[in-house]
Amino acid sequence: MAKEKTATLTIDKKTITMPIYDGTEGPSVIDISALYKDTGYFTYDPGFMSTASCDSKITYIDGDEGILRYRGYDIDTLANNNDFLDVCYLLLNGDLPNATEKKIFDREITLHTMVHEQISFMFRGFPRRSHPMALMVGSVASLSAFYHDSLDIHNPEERKLAAFRMIAKMPTIAAMCYKYSIGQPFMFPDNDLGFCENFLYMLFATPCEKYKVNPVLVDAMEKIFILHADHEQNASTSTVRLAGSSGANPFACIGAGIASLWGPAHGGANEAVINMLEEIGDVKRIPEFIKRAKDKNDPFRLMGFGHRVYKNYDPRATVLRKTCKDVLNAVGKKDEPLLAIAMELERIALSDEYFIERKLYPNVDFYSGIIYRAMGIPSNLFTVLFAIARTAGWVAQWKEMIEDPKQKIGRPRQLYIGATARSLPKKGKGKPNAKAAKGKAAAKKAAPAKAKSAAKAIVKATPKAKAKIVAKPAAKSVKLVSVSKKSAAKSTSSSARKTAKR
Ligand code: ACO
Repeated sequence: MAKEKTATLTIDKKTITMPIYDGTEGPSVIDISALYKDTGYFTYDPGFMSTASCDSKITYIDGDEGILRYRGYDIDTLANNNDFLDVCYLLLNGDLPNATEKKIFDREITLHTMVHEQISFMFRGFPRRSHPMALMVGSVASLSAFYHDSLDIHNPEERKLAAFRMIAKMPTIAAMCYKYSIGQPFMFPDNDLGFCENFLYMLFATPCEKYKVNPVLVDAMEKIFILHADHEQNASTSTVRLAGSSGANPFACIGAGIASLWGPAHGGANEAVINMLEEIGDVKRIPEFIKRAKDKNDPFRLMGFGHRVYKNYDPRATVLRKTCKDVLNAVGKKDEPLLAIAMELERIALSDEYFIERKLYPNVDFYSGIIYRAMGIPSNLFTVLFAIARTAGWVAQWKEMIEDPKQKIGRPRQLYIGATARSLPKKGKGKPNAKAAKGKAAAKKAAPAKAKSAAKAIVKATPKAKAKIVAKPAAKSVKLVSVSKKSAAKSTSSSARKTAKR
């Protein structure tokens, strides 16, 4: 990124200059890292609505245009022409493999599919009814116990080995989570099978009978894994980066990523979609649920709709919409009632003013759940499958972070609104003393919602970006009141396309 442009901020009559960096695509960023040192102020951005936490060469998203690319390749091109291990190689190395590289890579991954026998003993400590994601978090993080002393994260060869191990062992562990929950014996990986085929084999085969995996299901699984492999700085990936920024064991960091993925606002949504479609039960009841989704007093939301980044049709949902039909045909379930409900729900929601206004479109999870269900995968395993795929992105992002010379431990700041210093209440008396009461009053005054007085601060960006902010010293908060058209210009602007040089 070239330090060609700058932004100036005037606050408390002091003006500071901050560099603006252009990426190759997407919005430019204002480097505020010296803000606190220069002004004594932090920025305030809960949920990282406008904050870039790193620079990255891995994945590009334009949510307004519905674009998702890994290393410059459109997601639908990859999903329709490549297999999951091609994409793992791409994410890790920056380019797709040639035939020789691919053969070596596939073999290397295959050689690491087995897990230490102690892992299977560890499973026995968990209740059989455990949610598979609980088993997944525990067992993946516990890989750190097997690969710790021997792993130097500052050695590129050892980083590579750790990445191979993580990608290779995830399907084996995921299948073990399932087998454990249904009381069947664990299946060893069959290294004659491809990555996705082997996973479906370990999931559905038993030691008693020969099992042949349906190739249509293998193809669907390859696509689903490719679509879920990376999604730039989402909650779980940021969690992996943050955990890894302290130099922690990467297997433990992936465990942290799995925990973050579990939530229904993130990777747990595909399970929530199926639960919702089952609850709706009949196309006749759709209007009732649409009404509930729009009612601000009802916590119900249409699961599988909306996305923090995509304000257009999620490009991954477009690929899965077709795959969904292929799978239902292949398994003889083309009249699956849940699909009929999903299609009608989608049709009604996309023509409803509430959803149009808020740009709420189906996301990837709207279809993946239906596909998994048709494959015979129970809904509580859906997020586990997401974790297998996303491991490729997590390890690529972790590796990129460790290899970044600018990398620092991640340490956000905060706006403190709690009590100021106070002493303990006198023994035997419930009421706080005078100093404590003073502390409480000061905290109340500091709450941003109650702030009254306001002083001005102006941010000027040159030559193109310009923004004006009003700072409220009493609240120590900032409010953006105007941004020039050019600074808000989207990724398509020519200036934003300049090659990063930093
Ligand atoms: N149903 C009904 N209303 C919705 C929905 C929905 N699914 N999603 C957003 N809205 C409404 C909000 O109520 C809000 O309305 P308001 O402006 O009148 O207050 C507006 O749309 C904006 O929503 P936010 O919650 O501010 O958007 P945010 O970017 O924070 O949330 C999220 C994104 C969490 C994905 C949200 O859309 C949601 O909860 N969707 C359902 C869960 C889901 O499908 N998650 C999967 C995401 S994809 C993934 O992780 C792989």
